[in-house]
Amino acid sequence: MLDSNYFYYTGATLNCDEVRLEELAGTFGTPLYVTSTRSLVDSYNSFEHAFAGLPHFTCYSVKANYNLSVIRTFAELGCGCDVNSGGELFRALQGGVAPEKIIFAGVGKKSEEIAYSLKVGVLMLKAESLSELRAIDRIAGELGKTASVALRINPNVTAETHPYITTGDSKEKFGIDEAELPEVFTLLRQMSNLRLVGLDMHIGSQIFDPEYFVAATVKLLALFNLSKTMGFSVEFLDIGGGFPVTYDPLKPATPIERFAEKLVPMLLPAGVTVIFEPGRYLVANASVLLTRILYKKHNHVGKKFFVVDAGMTELIRPALYQSHHEVQAVTRHDETFVADVVGPICESSDFFARQREIDAAEEGELLAVMSCGAYAAVMSSNYNGRLRPAEVMVNGRDVKLVRKRETLEQLVQNELF
Ligand code: LLP
Repeated sequence: MLDSNYFYYTGATLNCDEVRLEELAGTFGTPLYVTSTRSLVDSYNSFEHAFAGLPHFTCYSVKANYNLSVIRTFAELGCGCDVNSGGELFRALQGGVAPEKIIFAGVGKKSEEIAYSLKVGVLMLKAESLSELRAIDRIAGELGKTASVALRINPNVTAETHPYITTGDSKEKFGIDEAELPEVFTLLRQMSNLRLVGLDMHIGSQIFDPEYFVAATVKLLALFNLSKTMGFSVEFLDIGGGFPVTYDPLKPATPIERFAEKLVPMLLPAGVTVIFEPGRYLVANASVLLTRILYKKHNHVGKKFFVVDAGMTELIRPALYQSHHEVQAVTRHDETFVADVVGPICESSDFFARQREIDAAEEGELLAVMSCGAYAAVMSSNYNGRLRPAEVMVNGRDVKLVRKRETLEQLVQNELF
């Protein structure tokens, strides 16, 4: 059970902050994403506290949860944003983030996206290839601007995590190959519309062992020294995101302080501003996906199923990465049984939990799928004609609807028929 300060039982009832989840389901319906604002604020503060010893700038990676109210919560705390597309840039700006606090990543930025980011004046674009640098140089020239760029390096460090979310390995598409960098530095000098302001990396997501960060930072620092000897004065070293959270109480995440203990002494002597891009760390455990049990069924081989009204369309992580999410009854029962918690989608991969011990809840009762703040709503889809759920944010007793449930009309609104 993933009990926290934000999602906890009083008696048999699961709450978010000071509000009963049952009450929220009654008002807003299900499936429903419920986010604790206090959890967002506390995660940000704990991150800032851990790295307080280092001159740094934290850019929330909005891909984890780009709801405007979530973005605004962090923006109001002084946090910047890491965006990965023109769409995310638009969202960050709408969420109230100043352009000079936004950094623009992405292995395949289109010309229009590059132009958009230059026009609004982001802090930097993180380039991932020589061709991209040439494109940024050309577009900046056309716009009469100088583009601030960082080079994303591929440090060839294979961080242990799910293979789909390890990004710092030379087998992957990300970043500029380390062997190519000396040449890139040389060619950069000829690109008169670019200013090199940073060196960047991102080695993956949900990385438990700080040593992977250490290994990649060693490489980043070596390149930083090379950049100095080649006459550049880089102001930012960007370490990326990837800091872990606990999904399964049996596999607790490495505390953020363990990362800071290793990284702060390594990076401090560089005398630059270090950028961090945490996504998951700031949001994963701030939200649950609230879902109602539609049917209970069992079969002759002894399998039991809870069929619920949310599915892989609202949380694809178990299907895509075999990830574990706790599933908790919103009203506790003394009795438990082992069951699969499955959704209504026509795919066998549509499950939240398999062979899991769950409270013996009845049809019509609610389950909370835990840790749904990161990469849940943002990866939702309309597959099977599903309507994206509503989203609410809770702060103490205060409840705000921050995204309306989609309607049937919205499902067809872009079609020309
Ligand atoms: N910076 C860059 C350049 C990234 O690509 C990412 C995540 C982050 C920062 C934030 O990483 P975080 O701190 O959240 O680990 N959908 C997958 C995760 C994909 C992560 C993609 N990049 C999942 O559900 O596990």
